[in-house]
Amino acid sequence: MAPLLTGALFRPDRYHFFPVLDSTNRYAAQLAQAGAEAGTVVVADQQTHGRGRLGRQWSSPPGVSVYCSVVLRPDRPPQEAAQLTLLSGLALARALTDLGIGGVEIKWPNDLLLAGRKVAGILTEARADPQRMQYVIVGMGVNVHGTEAVFPVELRGKATTLASVCSVPLYRPVLLAGVLAQLEFLYGRFCREGFAPLREEWLSFSRLLGRSVQVSLASGRFSGRAMALDGDGYLLVQRDDGMLTRVVAGDVVPLGED
Ligand code: BTN
Repeated sequence: MAPLLTGALFRPDRYHFFPVLDSTNRYAAQLAQAGAEAGTVVVADQQTHGRGRLGRQWSSPPGVSVYCSVVLRPDRPPQEAAQLTLLSGLALARALTDLGIGGVEIKWPNDLLLAGRKVAGILTEARADPQRMQYVIVGMGVNVHGTEAVFPVELRGKATTLASVCSVPLYRPVLLAGVLAQLEFLYGRFCREGFAPLREEWLSFSRLLGRSVQVSLASGRFSGRAMALDGDGYLLVQRDDGMLTRVVAGDVVPLGED
């Protein structure tokens, strides 16, 4: 990877690779707590306890995927942490598009879809003071090689790999370097100007706005229409009973899909 890391933030001396880790997010958080600088990158070929959003597991077999976590220290208010998930989704969408992969979609807040199936996910974990973020770990998992048979049975039909749906040559280091280059660029912009200038481009990759959706929260489920992305990056859904609801953490699925 070293020759491919040409940016000022994600540099070879901040890059850590492991054949196996429990979770790159957990390890990156450990490094961040011990004072690791912004730009620290942790990559593993396999994870034994890959973490997904909402306490789920992230299936992480060896040899087929990208499992990467980066340490960021944005001098921004803590309520903007969720926007880093959106920004990272945009970095992934841009990098895949640059490789010649068409039809990339972002499903709020953290899924990348190809042909309607999940090909990548993002898990953002932040530690913050009341006024300021101390550090943010952005973890990205991209399903690259193999067929859908690499996934556990419950993910069949829902998740896919880049190799299953596109015919461009795929080389994980090049893919990862492209993602990190985009993330560095977008993160620089975010630190200076916030998410607002990136919002339109994010929306152009999104497949939810205007659609009927089912929202699953810890407290229950409801259906409605995805209306907008608010200034903080949360989804505004008009429920079927007319009430406008701000969805901060939950699963949002277009109706008619599982
Ligand atoms: C999701 O869609 O639920 C988020 C999945 C995030 C998975 C990545 S893989 C690299 C990093 N380390 C982890 O333990 N999780 C993230």
